[in-house]
Amino acid sequence: MAIFLTGSTGYIGAHVASILLERHADRLNLLVRAKSEQEASERLWHAMQLHMDFPQFRDALESRITIFRGDLTDPHFGLDTADYTHLMATTESVIHCAASLNRKSEKSCLNVNLRGTLEVAQLARRAQDAHGLRRFSQVSTVAVAGHRSHEVVKEDTSIDWNRSDYDPYARTKKFCEHMVRELLPDVSRTVFRPSIVLGDSRRAETTQFDMVRAFVFLAGLPVLPFRPADRIDIVPVDYVAESVVALHQKAKPEHEIYHLSSGTGSETFGQLTRALADSAGKMQPLFWPGLERNFTAVVNWLSNSRGPVGRSASLLKVFMPYLVWDTVFENSRVVAEMGRAPEPFSKYCYPLLRFSRDHRFSYPYKPWPESAGSLLREDVAAAAVGTAGGSHP
Ligand SMILES: NC(=O)c1ccc[n+]([C@@H]2O[C@H](COP(=O)([O-])OP(=O)(O)OC[C@H]3O[C@@H](n4cnc5c(N)ncnc54)[C@H](OP(=O)(O)O)[C@@H]3O)[C@@H](O)[C@H]2O)c1
Repeated sequence: MAIFLTGSTGYIGAHVASILLERHADRLNLLVRAKSEQEASERLWHAMQLHMDFPQFRDALESRITIFRGDLTDPHFGLDTADYTHLMATTESVIHCAASLNRKSEKSCLNVNLRGTLEVAQLARRAQDAHGLRRFSQVSTVAVAGHRSHEVVKEDTSIDWNRSDYDPYARTKKFCEHMVRELLPDVSRTVFRPSIVLGDSRRAETTQFDMVRAFVFLAGLPVLPFRPADRIDIVPVDYVAESVVALHQKAKPEHEIYHLSSGTGSETFGQLTRALADSAGKMQPLFWPGLERNFTAVVNWLSNSRGPVGRSASLLKVFMPYLVWDTVFENSRVVAEMGRAPEPFSKYCYPLLRFSRDHRFSYPYKPWPESAGSLLREDVAAAAVGTAGGSHP
């Protein structure tokens, strides 16, 4: 039996997969989008190399991982009947981490988040009816709280159907939580809502740069259109992934919903800019909150231009509501379960910004080793005899 994990080629999902491989003995059923077995293995290696070297990865691939080549937006993930049945029969629990984070695309959020989560819930339903499902863990987001201002939001009062949402991402993720609760009432469920996941408190390296790009852009400005005492809820990816794994594996978590966030311990813009200025040996920027409206207009205008400035402005445009809402997410539930709070962003933000700038916002990926190519292909081909979409032993 295995844990079915979606989104393992993504930033958080790869962290979750690597912790499961390192600290637990479970097998993993992974849903990976790819046209061939080799492409699926290479895409997974791409995502996992932040966490392990190639021999460790190959060992895990051969002994612990079953890749199902599929897409959330296809019926039965696009798997043939044999593969889908095998996935269902071998799934003892689910961690649904995949999503579209494209805040600008209604279509992408509708398809990946709503239709995709429905597919995952249906698979879970069948597994529960056939042999019982230990747990369904859903990685959601604090954005389900909708429009907020100067608040400390608690888990159980976060979703309010009469409140407007900032974007299609928040709206669809909110309905995903509802859908899973309605379709799997008899399954033990855990909902994880990370806040802004930015960097890793243990190291400077990252493979995800969207939010970092927006921060680097802001960090370079001499004047910021924010209130210096406003708090911003940022959490490192290692804390998020460790919490997801620990609570998914726990026999009886205390609660159904957990904010994976910094909560009332969140730092203010003033604290963060001071920490960055101290580390870089520079002057702190000035704060001019009255500029917010003009700043937003300039960001919107720049977001239509090409090049790095256009890209940063475009990212800033979608993140802007989450930067000025001065809202944080109560985290006492997860802190009690984990026995510790997340590291504050000021402790690790400078190495993250340096790494991102020095590497021009891209991770220096190692290619698939030449020498491993044919060897692995033969193993995978042997293991995949009789399967079309997946590669399972
Ligand atoms: N990052 C944050 O700040 C943050 C904050 C709060 C909550 N979250 C939640 O955390 C989860 C993971 O986010 P992330 O930052 O790790 O995102 P990410 O790096 O963009 O990863 C998204 C994952 O979803 C997969 N996926 C997307 N569309 C798919 C499809 N049609 N079929 C199969 N797989 C598909 C991607 O596969 P490909 O590699 O094939 O594209 C990738 O593995 C999401 O549920 C998100 O809502 C993230």
